[in-house]
Amino acid sequence: MKMIKHCTIKGIVKQLFTYRQEVLLGNVIAIIATLLVVAIPLFIPILVDELLLGKEHGFITWISQNIFTSDTKGYVFFILVVILVLRVISTLLSIFQTKIFVSISKNITYKMRVSLLDHLQRVSLKEYEMMRVGAVTSKLVTDVETIDGFVSSTISKLIVAVLLLLFSAIILLWIHWQLAIFILITNPIVVLFTVKLARNIGELKKEENKAVEMFQSALTETLELFHQIRAANKEAYFFEQSRIKAEALRTHAINYGYKSDRALKYSYLVFLAGYEIFRAVSILAVAYSDLSVGLMLAVFSYLWVMVNPIQDIINFQYVLSTAKAACKRINSIYEMEQEPQIEETQNPFMGKHAIDIVVNNLSFAYQKDKYILENISMEIKQGSKVAIVGASGSGKTTLSNILVGFYPLDEGEIRYGGVSNKNLKLSTIRENIHLILQHPKLFNDTMLFNLTLGKSYAPEVIQKALHIAQLDDVIARLDLGLDTLVGKDGIKLSGGQRQRVAIARMILSDPKVVIFDESTSALDVHTEVKLFEALHDFLADKTVITIAHRLSTIKSAAFIYVLEDGKVVDSGTPRELLSKDESYFSSMI
Ligand SMILES: Nc1ncnc2c1ncn2[C@@H]1O[C@H](COP(=O)(O)OP(=O)(O)OP(=O)(O)O)[C@@H](O)[C@H]1O
Ligand SMILES: [Mg+2]
Repeated sequence: MKMIKHCTIKGIVKQLFTYRQEVLLGNVIAIIATLLVVAIPLFIPILVDELLLGKEHGFITWISQNIFTSDTKGYVFFILVVILVLRVISTLLSIFQTKIFVSISKNITYKMRVSLLDHLQRVSLKEYEMMRVGAVTSKLVTDVETIDGFVSSTISKLIVAVLLLLFSAIILLWIHWQLAIFILITNPIVVLFTVKLARNIGELKKEENKAVEMFQSALTETLELFHQIRAANKEAYFFEQSRIKAEALRTHAINYGYKSDRALKYSYLVFLAGYEIFRAVSILAVAYSDLSVGLMLAVFSYLWVMVNPIQDIINFQYVLSTAKAACKRINSIYEMEQEPQIEETQNPFMGKHAIDIVVNNLSFAYQKDKYILENISMEIKQGSKVAIVGASGSGKTTLSNILVGFYPLDEGEIRYGGVSNKNLKLSTIRENIHLILQHPKLFNDTMLFNLTLGKSYAPEVIQKALHIAQLDDVIARLDLGLDTLVGKDGIKLSGGQRQRVAIARMILSDPKVVIFDESTSALDVHTEVKLFEALHDFLADKTVITIAHRLSTIKSAAFIYVLEDGKVVDSGTPRELLSKDESYFSSMI
């Protein structure tokens, strides 16, 4: 599928060209429907001049010679039927045309949403951390909808409007060319006037959509953190914030709603004034030239036929300027930084049970030049059990996030099984290295979904994972077992149960390297011991990195790195470290 990578009006029009055939078909139908409608006023001179005023009988004579002969009543009825048939056909055709155009515009906006989702999917974690979810969703909903309005009105209304004007102009020229030229010169003045009025409307729409975004992100955040807000007894404050945003939205919506309507009405007023002038001039044309009354009435009808297309063209100015504004807002999503795209030549994880990890002079900063990790070097042998200890804030979680490929590193290199991270996709690293977080996030879905994340496993495999993760009893106590919904963020489970769900998830995904980032901190010592005993065989071949505050969790490690302020200040076997300086472990139980 061809993606829109940057929202521009030109790009959207280009997308339209990919639907050439449909657009063409729609327009052919539109032209036919238009011609049928435009032909209708031509019957007026026949009815008025030939039948009522008894002037030359050109058309009526033709009917009586070729179709049938009748009196006035018969001819009026015949013409009525013809007109009604034309209207019905034209309506049916325009319904069909709308169907074609609607599906084109919905397809284009669908592609736009897919392309935005695609961009968001690859957005770097740094961007994600600062992302306001409500703001992003509002762009994907409201602004894309604004673009949809533009696309559908461009393809379905603009072309038809131009055609209607064109045909009407031709017929007007044929009826009375002097009058027609007068009308055709005055009309563009109306349109020019409206272009001027339209300029501000886009800005107002942008303000309105921005207000929607502010409201939506305030509300999303409040609802997402509802639990914490209630715990802090701050509902009144947070909902007040949302109310203030709703109020701002109201102000902007009123502003846009009434000012855009005002601009439209002014434009329409100019048009109506023009219409009155045309009418006066037409009457003069009947009085002082050879224009018949019937033709004059036909001219009036054409003026009405021209109202809608002129309105549509006027409207188009507004839709265009709102679409430009929406595009600008949508582009702020495209401007979000993505994860680096890396050409991968070799996958070191392929066909291996475990892998060694060598860290060379790694440095990392979340914000420019504020290094959280400095010059870290480590050598973690294949299948070995290593621990990282250090005070809170020393950078342990940051280091594990980098090892697992959440963030690209700034300096240095990590070699996985001999292959540099520079030649590995972050997604390949994440596929094979599993990081278990201290506070695992759960989906508001069933227990089963939270374990498998949608992948299917044999029931025995799941049972085994549950057993190792010490979850047997927990599941047995749930009303619906594995089908029990865990609530928002797994709220129905205890902290320790959530940690065990995360461990069971890791067991199922069967990674080559496992990193425990204080992943068992919420378990009592007894359960923790049982868990690690059960995990022993599963972890036997794997490379394991454990971050913990409790000595009991890491004393079985083969090698320990001590981190302080983002630097490795010491390393060795537990015995070596203990014999050197017991203070490392003095805070550990
Ligand atoms: N996403 C982030 N953006 C900016 N700074 C961050 C981010 N995450 C962590 N930091 C900073 O990096 C430093 C190290 O944090 P990190 O979470 O790695 O520490 P830690 O050793 O895991 O601590 P703890 O034992 O409390 O879990 C802290 O000073 C923190 O403020
Ligand atoms: Mg941490």
